[in-house]
Amino acid sequence: MSHHSDPACLFPTAIVTIIATPEMWETPALEKEEALIAGSADKRRREFRAGRHCAHRALECLGLEVTPLLQGERREPIWPQGYLGSISHCDDYALAVCALQGDIVGIGIDVEPLSPLKRDVEQLIHTERESRFMQANPALPERLIFSAKESLYKCYYPLVEQFFDFHEVELAIDLTTRHFSFSSQPEAGISFPAYANFHGSFLNTGSHLITGCYLTQ
Ligand SMILES: CC(C)(COP(=O)(O)OP(=O)(O)OC[C@H]1O[C@@H](n2cnc3c(N)ncnc32)[C@H](O)[C@@H]1OP(=O)(O)O)[C@@H](O)C(=O)NCCC(=O)NCCS
Repeated sequence: MSHHSDPACLFPTAIVTIIATPEMWETPALEKEEALIAGSADKRRREFRAGRHCAHRALECLGLEVTPLLQGERREPIWPQGYLGSISHCDDYALAVCALQGDIVGIGIDVEPLSPLKRDVEQLIHTERESRFMQANPALPERLIFSAKESLYKCYYPLVEQFFDFHEVELAIDLTTRHFSFSSQPEAGISFPAYANFHGSFLNTGSHLITGCYLTQ
């Protein structure tokens, strides 16, 4: 795999990245995990299983034995004590990232197809400045801002334990380095922990857009 299609390049080496292999989509997860998707549609079950298997493998790489990854109040995975990570999946791509808690205090990941954003959702996601930026850079994946905000949310949610909406943060994308940073909008009520340094970046694999972010202390 070339460097430019490998999502591991979004993260420092302390963060383990695992991409789902074909059998992971079909193989049942652990019993207690399967109970979380008992009534779900086939698509959901396949994606959930792929994500859970990736997370198990990542935790194994970090020296842990596989135990069920259950869910918190807002569907966030509950990582084993002392570890953290993030899971993302779409129709045909799933991955998980995990690390030992320490210097790294947050991780978020998101994968999206390269297909366009639906017209009517754009205004819900983009601030005016972000809309102008995307219009000025039509070669960028249309879901870039959406995906970056999803990974940002997953990264911060376990720390702030607060839902936040797409218009409460605004992204700044660096086209040369493919990094992104964000600012909290004046009217937003979220207090992002000041001790955490945010690192965000994105990757176009040729078939998918992957955004990843992490927080260091
Ligand atoms: C949670 C959310 C980010 C999931 O995104 P998605 O596009 O539906 O699906 P993805 O495959 O990328 O991610 C799903 C995975 O995210 C993880 N996840 C779900 N809720 C989470 C949360 N609150 N915190 C961290 N991770 C979470 C789970 O592992 C989930 O997969 P699983 O249910 O199989 O375990 C999204 O549905 C959501 O609720 N967003 C909140 C609103 C938002 O994004 N605001 C923008 C902030 S600026």
